[in-house]
Parts: sequence; C-alpha cells; structure tokens
Amino acid sequence: MLEGILDHILIDETTLQRRVAELGQAVSADYQGKDLMLVCVLKGGVAFLTDLMRRITVPHEIDFMAISSYGGQRTESSGVVRILMDLHADIAGRHVLLVEDIVDSGRTIDYLLRALQARNPATLRVCTLLNKPCRRVVDVPLDYIGFDIPDDFVLGYGLDYDEKHRNLPFIGVLKQDG
Ligand code: IMP
Ligand code: MG
Repeated sequence: MLEGILDHILIDETTLQRRVAELGQAVSADYQGKDLMLVCVLKGGVAFLTDLMRRITVPHEIDFMAISSYGGQRTESSGVVRILMDLHADIAGRHVLLVEDIVDSGRTIDYLLRALQARNPATLRVCTLLNKPCRRVVDVPLDYIGFDIPDDFVLGYGLDYDEKHRNLPFIGVLKQDG
C-alpha cells in the first residue's frame, strides 16, 4: 500500500516516542500548579495529543478544534482558515497550550493564535511536533518544537496525504510523483 507513496522514513517510531516523552516532561515542569488546557487541532494533531497527554504528569483537560484551510493544493495550505468545530470549553483565564502536528507557512497557527487570544486565556502557547522553518511566511512564536524538518511533504503520525496515512506510527516523506 505504501509503495509509490513513501519515499523514506524521516523520523522512526522510537525516535518519535522518545521526543514526545521529553516534550511531556518539559510541559509538566512548566505547568506545575497551573490550570492547563491542551487544545488539539484536528485532525492532524490527534496522534501527537494522545501520546503527549500520557507523558504529562500534571492534571489537565483536553479540548478539540477542527479547522479547514481553503484554496490550497493537496500539499500546500492556503492560510484561509475556517473553524469547523469550536472548543467546548471557555478558555478565559486558563493556561492554554495549542497542540499542532506541523507548522509550515505559519498561517494556520497565526490565525488560531489570534482567534484564541481574543478569548482572554491566562497564557497561550504552542506545542508543535514538527516545524518547517524554511517554509515560514508568517512569523509565529513556537514554545515547544519536537523536530525541525526540511522542506519535504511528510505523512504519518496524524499527518495526511489526501486524508490518508494518518495511521502510520512514524513520519515519512512523500514520494515526489506519489
Ligand atoms: P501552515 O498554515 O502552512 O503552517 O500549514 C499548517 C497545516 O498544513 C498543518 O496543520 C497541516 O495540516 C498542513 N501541512 C503542512 N505541511 C504538511 C506536510 O508536510 N504534511 C502534511 N500536512 C502538512
Ligand atoms: Mg493540520
């Protein structure tokens, strides 16, 4: 099934899980005694969230937001973002940590940060598994980064290509003519 799709594995499962554990430790240390709310951006962030939360040792809540970006091609986000499903919780006065799969141009996170900041959280920070610094168009503050990666289109561990392959337990690079 992966022949013709996967060029090579960029981050294997062991490396991924080790880093997620480190991020969980860092978040736990930073949010000790704080009313922490993890906000997962669907759908791409879901694999990362479920592993990360199990590595976080301080009490916290989780909530979800679903967004879509318009007008882009299959491997490019447009930055025109629409909220498909909003949070259930009121985040005013709470310590919010946005959990994202990948920051590419930065447009999606920039939009989300503006939208959430308007609701007056106590703090609002970003934890992204992957970061493509060379693709940045909008400068966004990233507080926790799992891995900086090169300018390749990646899939697996929540990230999709044409809505599929989110289930892969590793991060792989899409074959160029796949
Ligand atoms: P940005 O708005 O350009 O930063 O793009 C962020 C969104 O685009 C991510 O949340 C992903 O859904 C998608 N995206 C960007 N790069 C990739 C990739 O390499 N693989 C899969 N999805 C990606
Ligand atoms: Mg996404």
